[in-house]
Amino acid sequence: MKLVHITDIHLLPPGQTIHGLDPAARLNAVIDDVIARHADAELAVFTGDLTDRGEPEAYDILRGALQRLPMPAQLLLGNHDHRERFRAAFPDAETDDNGFVQTMRAAPGRVGRLLFLDTLEAGWSGGSYCEKRLAWLDRMLSQAPDLPVTVFMHHPPGDTGVAHFECINLHEPAPLVARLQAHPGGVRMIFIGHVHLPMAGVLAGTLPFVAGRGCTHHMVLDATARDCLWVAGGPNYSVITLAEDRVVSIAVDMLDAPLVGKGAYPPGP
Ligand SMILES: [Fe+2]
Repeated sequence: MKLVHITDIHLLPPGQTIHGLDPAARLNAVIDDVIARHADAELAVFTGDLTDRGEPEAYDILRGALQRLPMPAQLLLGNHDHRERFRAAFPDAETDDNGFVQTMRAAPGRVGRLLFLDTLEAGWSGGSYCEKRLAWLDRMLSQAPDLPVTVFMHHPPGDTGVAHFECINLHEPAPLVARLQAHPGGVRMIFIGHVHLPMAGVLAGTLPFVAGRGCTHHMVLDATARDCLWVAGGPNYSVITLAEDRVVSIAVDMLDAPLVGKGAYPPGP
């Protein structure tokens, strides 16, 4: 199963920029590349911060841009989003019984289940995963206990060691982490956004994660600095392969790079 992973677009109403960047233009550059090179992906997953301030006009831009995508989109919320305005703009988006924008999809065979979690807490920069959301997760995990899950969510469910984020990760992640670690089928990978850094690792001892770098502004890595510096690398997304024997995420962040050579296929050894 092939997916594309797009995150942290931070769309704004028409004509507005963020740190001098046009988030809609950068999203469209990503979509152009997806159309040209990865139109065979089955699903495009957006792990939150779809907009920067949750304005309806920004969600309108997203809805229009998604019409160009050759595959369906799974939209998750981040701390910069607004749940009610999102649901007004995307009335067909799947939600749980309490209106949280979270759902589960079945993948073929032992690829297992894909879980899309809603960690937005209105007014917070960090995330939360409350009792109501945990109860939904318990029901989802119990439907296929022996199948592994691949999780998509905005906030990292633990501290990644970058000072800027130390107070705005998922708050009180222990109940969610405990559920995932207790799942008999196991957790194959957690794909996140939020950090605006191309980060991968293991949290809570056993949970592997990969973060998308983000489509718009990117962070200069200084793990000890509480303030952060933003820079403009290229528009970015990732291509994910989910197979029964592997999970691979490959970042695509050279959309504008000049071609400097060609390599012949090496037949080995
Ligand atoms: Fe973000």
